Amino acid sequence: MKSYRIATFGCQMNVHDSDRMHEVMQGAGFSEVEAEEGADVIILNTCSVREKAEQKLRSELGKLRQGKAGHPGRVLVVAGCVAQQEGEKLLSRGLGVDLVIGPDNIRELPLLLHDLASGGLPTVRTVFDLDAPQFLTSYGAPSAPSPSERPSAVSTFVTTMKGCNERCTFCIVPTTRGPERYRPSDEILAEVRGLAERGTREVTLLGQTVNSYTDPLGCMEKPSGADPDESEFAALLRAVSKEAPSLRLRYTSPHPRHLTPSLIAAHAELPGLCRHVHLPVQSGSDRVLKRMLRRYTRAEFEARVAALKAAMKSQDGTPGVTLSTDIIVGFPGETDEDFEQTLSLIEAVGFVGVFAFKYSERPFTPALKLKNDVSEEEKSRRLARLFALSEGLTAKHLSTLVGSELEVLIEGRAKKPQAGAEATFSGRSFRNEIVHLQDDRGEQLVGEVVRVRVERSFKHSVLASLTPEAVAQAGRSAPKERGARRLPMLSAAD
Ligand code: 5AD
Repeated sequence: MKSYRIATFGCQMNVHDSDRMHEVMQGAGFSEVEAEEGADVIILNTCSVREKAEQKLRSELGKLRQGKAGHPGRVLVVAGCVAQQEGEKLLSRGLGVDLVIGPDNIRELPLLLHDLASGGLPTVRTVFDLDAPQFLTSYGAPSAPSPSERPSAVSTFVTTMKGCNERCTFCIVPTTRGPERYRPSDEILAEVRGLAERGTREVTLLGQTVNSYTDPLGCMEKPSGADPDESEFAALLRAVSKEAPSLRLRYTSPHPRHLTPSLIAAHAELPGLCRHVHLPVQSGSDRVLKRMLRRYTRAEFEARVAALKAAMKSQDGTPGVTLSTDIIVGFPGETDEDFEQTLSLIEAVGFVGVFAFKYSERPFTPALKLKNDVSEEEKSRRLARLFALSEGLTAKHLSTLVGSELEVLIEGRAKKPQAGAEATFSGRSFRNEIVHLQDDRGEQLVGEVVRVRVERSFKHSVLASLTPEAVAQAGRSAPKERGARRLPMLSAAD
């Protein structure tokens, strides 16, 4: 049996695409190997959102080309966004690449590998499926193992749309992922139902501008309000919640202008919808937002966030909803004053997680016409100030949770012990706080939603233990069989 290995770079969409590639490859009879050395096929699923990510690919390719000498017949595949962006160029540079395959062509992978094995020439296949968009489900590969044969993930992604119609001037995504295409709601609901039946406890709806959703089947209700940025996304969330009420629901990544009244109402209404939104704002300065073509002002962003917070007030004094964001520092023309406004926005909103990046020029983007005039040193300085602020906000938020109770979905074993505390399991709360749990109940906890009390806080996480009620319930429950739950599940409304 031929073996393969996938290395994944970049965003959740790429992680999801890699999962689909695994299914397609295994469905075609390939077996996955951990180590690169043993692999007959090596797939690099690439990211090009920032220059750094692309550089990583170049150095990876350099290493692999050298390694290829000792492995005649090994096939090197470049997939993902750099594949879509560079196409033919990746074949012509003597990089040792055999196959270049775009995000919309994952299903064709086995066939293209077969062609190569039969003596075919290196190939590029980067065609957007504009007329008949395809959305690979988590068990949709034609000859993949049937759902019952595969373990279910505690938390998983479900694609609801792909591509992006925004024209943010810094962003390469419209080039690498194409225009927006939406998945029919019946497919989404069927996938969600299947996942819930197989024991998945949390689903993250995934799309580049996930909250611009419009159902191609016309089955989702259109909000009647006056907001021109309304979409059918709130209706989709309601339909998914109805289809699988026990699931926790998240979504990523929304565009701020579609955080509309209907979506805010859905947050207030749906108990299973997590109380955390990752809402990329990019800058706090109106001047910069305009040059980025973000299509909202700072005041509009703040108003939408305020409306969400007002709709999500909690009873115990802790925040009813948490927000995280993405920021670009050093966008062309960003002055000290503009940057100060970004800092003040981060503070005003109280983001508890900030992913910040130095602006990098990307091919095919409108911002290339602007002068990249903030020096590298200045970008580094701004980034450092921003991190100092955001780390402080995160730690402060987590420290306010000590003594409070949370519901946590236990996702797996804790990866590394925290200072002075041996956590055994970790998971996330409804507000997306990372929670480490000290408990000796073993694997039965994985996949459970349990109630915990927070004991200590760290820089990025908290340490907690089961509440006495949760311990008592655990003691009363029967041992867990595969697929059965030992701890009584808290319903989303608890
Ligand atoms: N330079 C720096 N950061 C970028 N991002 C997107 N394009 C660029 C770029 N050209 C960041 C944005 C986006 C995140 C995924 O990557 O903050 O939200």
